[in-house]
Amino acid sequence: MKIVIQPERHSEILMEVIPVFEGGKVLHVCNSCAARVQRFIKFGRFDASLGSTYKFTKEKDLGAIKEEVYVGLGKEEEITSERIRKAVSMAIKEVKKLNVEKATVRFIDLDDISTEEVVKAIAEGAVLGNYEFNNYKKIKEGRVFLNEIRIASVAQEKVEAAEKALQEAELLINSTIFARNLVNEPANVLIPEELAARAMAAGKESGFQVEIMDKNQIEALGMKAYLEVAKGSVNEPKLIVMRYFGDEENKEDVTALVGKGLTFDTGGYSLKPNDSMVNMKSDMGGAAAVIGAISAIAKAKLKANVVAVVAACENVISGGSYKPGDIIGSMSGKHIEIVNTDAEGRLTLADAVYYAAEKEKASRIIDVATLTGAALIALGTSTTAVVTNNQELYNKLQSAADSCGERVWQLPAFEEYKELNKSSVADIKNAGGRLAGTITAGLFIGEFVKDTPWMHLDVAGTAWSDVEKAYITKGGTGAAVRSLYYFVKNN
Ligand code: BES
Ligand code: MG
Ligand code: ZN
Repeated sequence: MKIVIQPERHSEILMEVIPVFEGGKVLHVCNSCAARVQRFIKFGRFDASLGSTYKFTKEKDLGAIKEEVYVGLGKEEEITSERIRKAVSMAIKEVKKLNVEKATVRFIDLDDISTEEVVKAIAEGAVLGNYEFNNYKKIKEGRVFLNEIRIASVAQEKVEAAEKALQEAELLINSTIFARNLVNEPANVLIPEELAARAMAAGKESGFQVEIMDKNQIEALGMKAYLEVAKGSVNEPKLIVMRYFGDEENKEDVTALVGKGLTFDTGGYSLKPNDSMVNMKSDMGGAAAVIGAISAIAKAKLKANVVAVVAACENVISGGSYKPGDIIGSMSGKHIEIVNTDAEGRLTLADAVYYAAEKEKASRIIDVATLTGAALIALGTSTTAVVTNNQELYNKLQSAADSCGERVWQLPAFEEYKELNKSSVADIKNAGGRLAGTITAGLFIGEFVKDTPWMHLDVAGTAWSDVEKAYITKGGTGAAVRSLYYFVKNN
């Protein structure tokens, strides 16, 4: 999608999105427009509540039709950039129905939110809200796709700032869409090898180095826990390591982004019922997030050192799969009692975070994983759950997330919870029971980071959406890409 800043209010494009506050305030000195909105409101056609839309068509010259989609921004005093993102995405869904290639969205000039913020929110809302995954279905004849959005009516003195913000927005949009596409790709296509190939392609395109290790190399590293999960599948594991060194002067500062990369999770012998299994192609949502994030970071040439690690594999059943009751090793040397083969993600992550600390010399580690159904029970689908051993790290993530409209929430990591992971036959067990499931899963991973400042993001609720919600489209959402980017950028 092409996105451009347009200083003029009108142009040859006859499809316009016009944002309106509740009560009918439009943000431009345009009397006819304002009067029209007042009539829509008076006759009950449109109330400008957040995300509400009203379409208005007028015949221009002979043959030409001009269409306007009015979209509600809600109450003026409650406006935030996230609300702009949502409202614009709702407008774009109306625009989409009209089968046009180009549309303008009028800029929302505010005193309290910067031009940069508003431009990003409009661009993200529009493009992410317009996203569809169409790789495997026939497109209806005559359907055209929106391919250009102009942010119109940007005051001349704001154009430069707007254009700069747009560049960053485009990086983030593209990386988010990249992550969505990875998640939406079915597991028969996106096997570990294919995930590795796509990471490799992303590295070439965005400017980071990619190393792919096969089963023998993973064995040589001693990643026993990871291999136990992988061994049931004919599709071999791939350890994907991505390195971006943009801050050569501070070589010791290395942020590791470790993503759970289960290209499919059947649960193994602790088999999932079909309803719980059907969307498990999304169990590499954490991997998608870290590959997306490092792509944006590298493309933006941020002054930071980032290593992204994905221990990709499949959790499936065969005569060779690991079983409940098994006691397995790990790269750290710790032994793990398997009480549930469906708690597989933490096993792959235990080795992946240990690898990041030990081999990549990470000075801080953030893992991102679709780890527990319990995260959905605790926080629903809007908020990513976080467990950490370092409050400062969390606080920085919180502000990064706040700045881009993503939601995170910290869960406690009190030592009492660690009791639940204790095993009587091994150093630790891989599941701590039903209670506090997101916390115990996180703390399990934390046992393998050595003394590194670490934070765990459980995106089980946020990486996938069953429903369309404003700019969050159905399927993969690209959750955490933007937060990770801003976390690295600002710290
Ligand atoms: N991949 C699942 C978690 C999941 C559930 C992600 C729903 C997205 C949506 C994970 O591997 C898993 O199966 N976790 C178990 C852990 C349990 C056995 C301790 C779970 O949450 O039930
Ligand atoms: Mg599982
Ligand atoms: Zn899983």
